[in-house]
Amino acid sequence: MKYFRNITLLLGFIYVTSATKLKNTYNGRNENRTFPPEFLFGVATSAFQVEGGWNQGGRGWSMWDYEIKTDPGYISDGSKYEVAADSYNQYKRDVGLLKELGVNVYRFSLSWPRILPLGTPDYVNPEGIAYYNKLIDELLANGITPMITIYHWDLPLRLAELGGWLNEDIATWLGDYARVVYQNFGDRVKTWLTINEPFILCSLGYAFGTHAPRVISPGEDFYECGRNVLLAHARMYHIYHDEFKSQGGKVAVIISCDMALPLTDSLDDAEAAEDYFAFTLGQYAHPIFSPQGNYPQRLIDRVSRASSLQGYKQSRLRPFTPEQINYIRGTSDFFGLNSYSSYYVYRNDSLKERFAAPSFEDDMYIGTYTAPEWAIETSSWMYRYAPGLYNLLVYLKKVYNDPVIYITENGSSDKMGFYDEEKIAYYRGYLNAVLDAIDDGVDVRMYTAWSLMDTFEWNHGYSMRMGLYEMDIEDPNRPVFPRKSALVYKEIIRSRVIDPDYNPEPNDL
Ligand code: NOJ
Repeated sequence: MKYFRNITLLLGFIYVTSATKLKNTYNGRNENRTFPPEFLFGVATSAFQVEGGWNQGGRGWSMWDYEIKTDPGYISDGSKYEVAADSYNQYKRDVGLLKELGVNVYRFSLSWPRILPLGTPDYVNPEGIAYYNKLIDELLANGITPMITIYHWDLPLRLAELGGWLNEDIATWLGDYARVVYQNFGDRVKTWLTINEPFILCSLGYAFGTHAPRVISPGEDFYECGRNVLLAHARMYHIYHDEFKSQGGKVAVIISCDMALPLTDSLDDAEAAEDYFAFTLGQYAHPIFSPQGNYPQRLIDRVSRASSLQGYKQSRLRPFTPEQINYIRGTSDFFGLNSYSSYYVYRNDSLKERFAAPSFEDDMYIGTYTAPEWAIETSSWMYRYAPGLYNLLVYLKKVYNDPVIYITENGSSDKMGFYDEEKIAYYRGYLNAVLDAIDDGVDVRMYTAWSLMDTFEWNHGYSMRMGLYEMDIEDPNRPVFPRKSALVYKEIIRSRVIDPDYNPEPNDL
């Protein structure tokens, strides 16, 4: 979200102090609160970010392999992805770490090109299937529940060449791939996450062009991508419930959303917050979770108005047919939420030059501001403001009729070394915000920390370290070491209490 329009810092500073006080109602209401006994704790990774083994075991190319290998300057810190955390070869080490932490759940993703090297099920790679069978069995043997993301951004190159997320056939491709996955693993895996973070997938991949396939089309392809994501997700959901119901599992999409706090009490800023939600959350969540289905009216109206002022004959947001609205509505068995940051949002006269070029940011027409004290030293885009998560969870309860929520990602980066105090403060604050939300009746049932170990952070390489375990990327064996945050998280899972005074040292694991 760093791409959003900048505001003059002075303006923000004047308002922010009072706004902070208003919202800061969370945390430590009752120091000794415990997480409910059925509440689940997990950690997450994704295939491209940890597996390595890029040319092992018959894996095909993904669009990320192509972008990285054809542009030596693409990854900001020049780091390599080919071995990553070497989880393809060291999955037993990974399960050992999970066991050490005591997590209930491990969220990982399947590499589509490892299972279907050309993207389609004409050829199913037996070595790919065997790898995931071994990982799933090892998890279950250690009492850890697998929770699988089917699509976490590593589109097979061949399908990217056929248009990727801009080709409506992607719903067929993903559905066919999902069927192979349910057939092979569904006897043991009962929680399926179809597609990771539609907004980030479509904004970074098709609007700003920082993620593969690096398309820059913020006013058109951005919306087409989102539309196809919804159709593909719905197909994956229906295939499971039509053909594999007897497996008895659950299927959900993962929506990413950060909190939008109106900068002032003005009506304009309240509207700005609603527009922020309509574009970044509602665009994907409304068609699935709202009783009537379809895009939020606010999104439809804003894009249509801007399109017509720009001389388009039709809205750049292509409407769904009534059949498509029905097909998508209700296709998620719970709400999978990834959330990291918060923004103050506003709309006022300082926002000028509207409609310079078609862009969803112009369509949305808001400004954002982050308070200086939210900054995280090691990240350019992430902000720590735990009350934001509380407010977001309460908002989701209200807007989407009290859904069951699994937090499928949350966490922060920190500098290298054992003492990752900033990350610990992040986890403690955000977990307290989860407890506050539970206190207020939000049905949150799972918290998943990102991530187990340092992962390849897409175009940022290894410049952002988010692991509970630090990994030595210079050593070919990729040794991992617990950070202080790993010990703190382990203790929270064990005791089910967030003890602010627990202060472990390196030997305490
Ligand atoms: C979003 C993505 O799901 C994951 O791949 C990424 O590494 C983290 N959040 C942190 O940026």
